[in-house]
Amino acid sequence: MPTIATLTMNPTIDVDYSVDRMVPTRKLRSTRESYDPGGGGINVARVFVRLGGNASCYYLSGGATGVALDGLLDLHQLVRRPVRIAGSTRIACNVHEIEQGEEFRFVPEGPAVSQAEWLACLSALEQSECDYLVASGSLPPGVPEDFYARVARIAAERGIKFVLDSSGAALRESMSGEALHLIKPNQVELEQLTGRTLDSTDAAAAAAMELVTAGKAEMVAVTMGSDGGVLAGPGGVQHLPAIQVEAKSAVGAGDSFLAAMVYALATGREPVDAFRYGMAAGSAAVLTPGTDLCRKDDLERLYAQASV
Ligand SMILES: Nc1ncnc2c1ncn2[C@@H]1O[C@H](COP(=O)(O)OP(=O)(O)OP(=O)(O)O)[C@@H](O)[C@H]1O
Ligand SMILES: [Mg+2]
Repeated sequence: MPTIATLTMNPTIDVDYSVDRMVPTRKLRSTRESYDPGGGGINVARVFVRLGGNASCYYLSGGATGVALDGLLDLHQLVRRPVRIAGSTRIACNVHEIEQGEEFRFVPEGPAVSQAEWLACLSALEQSECDYLVASGSLPPGVPEDFYARVARIAAERGIKFVLDSSGAALRESMSGEALHLIKPNQVELEQLTGRTLDSTDAAAAAAMELVTAGKAEMVAVTMGSDGGVLAGPGGVQHLPAIQVEAKSAVGAGDSFLAAMVYALATGREPVDAFRYGMAAGSAAVLTPGTDLCRKDDLERLYAQASV
């Protein structure tokens, strides 16, 4: 059974409500209520376990909400590796408005993290035992922009393949040292990273391949929503179209993509095939309403369809 570790520096408790209509002042009665553990790395772990793997979750956890997050990880049978912080774990709220079919998403920036706390997180990672470490998500206030570069160094020393899905300065500064194993920018994130406008698949492919050639990453998987994606790696560039589905909610597509691609890589599949498996997972996530992640049966069905 493939085993990975994931890293979530700014996890969430994801709360989902459904209301008939959003109106000010009045009490809005919710007909549905659910609580899930969330944040990029934790979402990746949840999908990875659904696919048949094992995932240990490294994450920052603090306050009463941190205790609740720990409990939610237990409910999802994830292996917990919390790093305690003084601030309170954030709660992200997703409101589904039934009449208009709209989603409203409230996402706090997360607790401030002290130097001692993020250093403790690096120390915890120095003890990790895994083939792949997958970090996903933003950095909370107080964590330096080069934090993921520090993680990359630890992973390289331990022979762990480091996979990163992040954006902005956290992504840019991650690539100052060791080549990362895999990064997964979407089109906008790749534009921010390269400082160029990438308005075609060919332009995105060229930019991704430059990162590989420059030794920044061994593989760059650029996902482009309903336009599919581009994989750049040692074998060159490959373009895959998206699998056409009836889109319900694009929330969770990126994390589902990454979990499935890493699962396929960890079980020995070729990079292009792993990329196709990831695309099927992204499309499967789009099929599920609200913040739901992809389901394995949808993934397998779409993957079989795309492989014909
Ligand atoms: N509308 C869609 N139709 C079909 N497939 C989709 C659609 N949106 C996303 N996907 C699939 O999911 C993959 C990842 O989606 P996307 O490129 O939107 O990632 P992202 O921007 O990182 O998403 P996230 O907001 O979850 O971080 C795509 O490569 C594609 O395979
Ligand atoms: Mg994303």
